[in-house]
Amino acid sequence: MSEWQQSWTDAAGIRSVRGLFRDAFGAEPHGVWASPGRVNLIGEHTDYNGGLCLPVALPHRTYVAMARRTDRRARLTTGLEDGRTWSGDLKEIAPGSVDDWVAYCGGPAWALRQAGVDVPGFDVAISSCVPLGAGLSSSAAVECAVGLALTHLAGCRRDRDDTGRAWLADVCVRAENEVAGAPTGGMDQAASLRAQAGHALLLDCLDGSVEQIPFGLEAAGLELLVIDTQASHSLADGQYGARRASCDAAARELSVATLREVTDVDAALARLDDEVVRRRVRHVVTEIARVTEFVAAAGIGDWTRAGQLMNASHRSLRDDYEVSCVELDVAVGAALDAGALGARMTGGGFGGSAIALVRSSSADAVARGVRQAAAARGLAAPVVHRATPSAAGECLIEP
Ligand code: GLA
Repeated sequence: MSEWQQSWTDAAGIRSVRGLFRDAFGAEPHGVWASPGRVNLIGEHTDYNGGLCLPVALPHRTYVAMARRTDRRARLTTGLEDGRTWSGDLKEIAPGSVDDWVAYCGGPAWALRQAGVDVPGFDVAISSCVPLGAGLSSSAAVECAVGLALTHLAGCRRDRDDTGRAWLADVCVRAENEVAGAPTGGMDQAASLRAQAGHALLLDCLDGSVEQIPFGLEAAGLELLVIDTQASHSLADGQYGARRASCDAAARELSVATLREVTDVDAALARLDDEVVRRRVRHVVTEIARVTEFVAAAGIGDWTRAGQLMNASHRSLRDDYEVSCVELDVAVGAALDAGALGARMTGGGFGGSAIALVRSSSADAVARGVRQAAAARGLAAPVVHRATPSAAGECLIEP
């Protein structure tokens, strides 16, 4: 295996998805769209609490080739996993009627119709270099790329400004929550549709507003590594929903709409009886504060402080929120031992990926250290990516 895992170029993505479309449907697509996966710098499990998070879009993208049909049918084909196809009436794509990959790939068609868009029948092929099940939002990348394509074919170009992109991100969240049945917050879709290259996206989940935070690591001699532990994770399972439910219950107990409103963490904890719920709340409230501090530290180039905040975030996710796992803890520990400025699990947890902020000069040593530590523990070999903050989804070939 090569030392570093690369993302596809857009040219390679277009070639792949067009080939897939031609093989499946014997015709040329009308257009090609792409949308990226994401990695979150800090602010984990805060989005569904009205909090702050700070994702960057990855260079890894999902590519969608689509053609409009004259009837109301949909045909889906994907190169994901082993490659699969599905066809049916547009109306069959609805909550409870489709599951698994069809829900993710077709879900936006249902959510757009709910939002009043006259979605045409369509044929779609989907190819992706966003690692699957790695906590890098491969599902949001699919939804957002399909969402962009469908709005475009429906003649509704809401992607031209951030307001329209925020609307489309919400539509894709609805597809994920209601069609795929994963009770996620809005961070992933916002990152995939609203991020800018060279920037981190400061997302305020209370009102959906965003700020583009310059994140030029190269000039600072730094790199962001994404360590895919290969421990597969799934958000549709009960753990994520259980965390979300205990936050909602704590908010009710504290008589606040969301945990974002908690400003005095000690006073709030004193009002909660349950020890586990207290720890969940402590994570959320302190994590939201860490996002603000991280943005301030990054703004003045204080990367030592930024790294410390990442480490504190990991400890909080591991001990208070209890969403880490041995693979993530080993990766984070090894990255720090090998000289990373900071490291933490990223995304929903229970497997998936960690990130490490490193000096460029120590990137190789950190990648090596992480792999050696996994091997010493008998764990799967992690795959390490270099993450350049990249652009949001877009149309690559106009219909
Ligand atoms: C997953 C969800 C997001 C967010 C993160 C945790 O990625 O899809 O909405 O809740 O977990 O920060």
